[in-house]
Amino acid sequence: MKRVVAGNWKMNHGPAAARDYLARFRPPTGEGTARVLLFPPTVSLAAAVAAADGVPGVEIGVQDVNEAASGAFTGETSPVMAREAGATLTLVGHSERRQLYGEDDARVAAKVEAAFAAGLTPVVCVGETLEERRQGRLREVLLRQLDAVLEVLDPGSSWLLAYEPVWAIGTGETATPEDASEAHGILRRRLDAAGLDTGAIPILYGGSVKPANARELMSAPDVDGVLVGGASLDPEDFAAIAEAGTV
Ligand code: PGA
Repeated sequence: MKRVVAGNWKMNHGPAAARDYLARFRPPTGEGTARVLLFPPTVSLAAAVAAADGVPGVEIGVQDVNEAASGAFTGETSPVMAREAGATLTLVGHSERRQLYGEDDARVAAKVEAAFAAGLTPVVCVGETLEERRQGRLREVLLRQLDAVLEVLDPGSSWLLAYEPVWAIGTGETATPEDASEAHGILRRRLDAAGLDTGAIPILYGGSVKPANARELMSAPDVDGVLVGGASLDPEDFAAIAEAGTV
């Protein structure tokens, strides 16, 4: 499977910074190189889509969408409008959405459905908190979050999954390649059991990925790529991570 290297800028890089970034961003191209995805903030979407025209192979997505196509939802992003503005993907259920904005599994599932309906490819994020991990509930939490999404999914649809242990996000604390493989294995077996073509569903690892650890993480069994926050903010660091994804 072609590896996937995704960058989530979170609430960083306005339109001017997005243009400047893409003018400097030179991910590797050619045989065996990773698929490169970037998730700018919604206010920078149009600028990023226009600037990404000059960078071969970069796909642009949004960080979240509302479950409705339009309506009285002040401040929200419509998946249909995001698609119209040039996004082709969306993150769904990022741990910051779940933790800071109270998104539960049902909401995440509804957003996944809305993304598909709008023609956006969802990158579904799952992951356990430190407390859940300490309580030995890794498997239970991951499968609960995954199953909610599997219920609304058409078997043939194209989507990606990201395992992001909450304790490793923005903390400098990285899961070991073994931790990542264990969690990815749990997810992969569930996809298998659901009769899905697991070879067509990349599972990315996210949480304090940097140029220095990206290659090792992506070499771990069942890890098909990475979802990078902090280290995706610098175009050179992110290009180095993309380079590490070459097979
Ligand atoms: P981080 O964030 O790389 O800064 O830990 C990862 C993420 O939240 O996607």
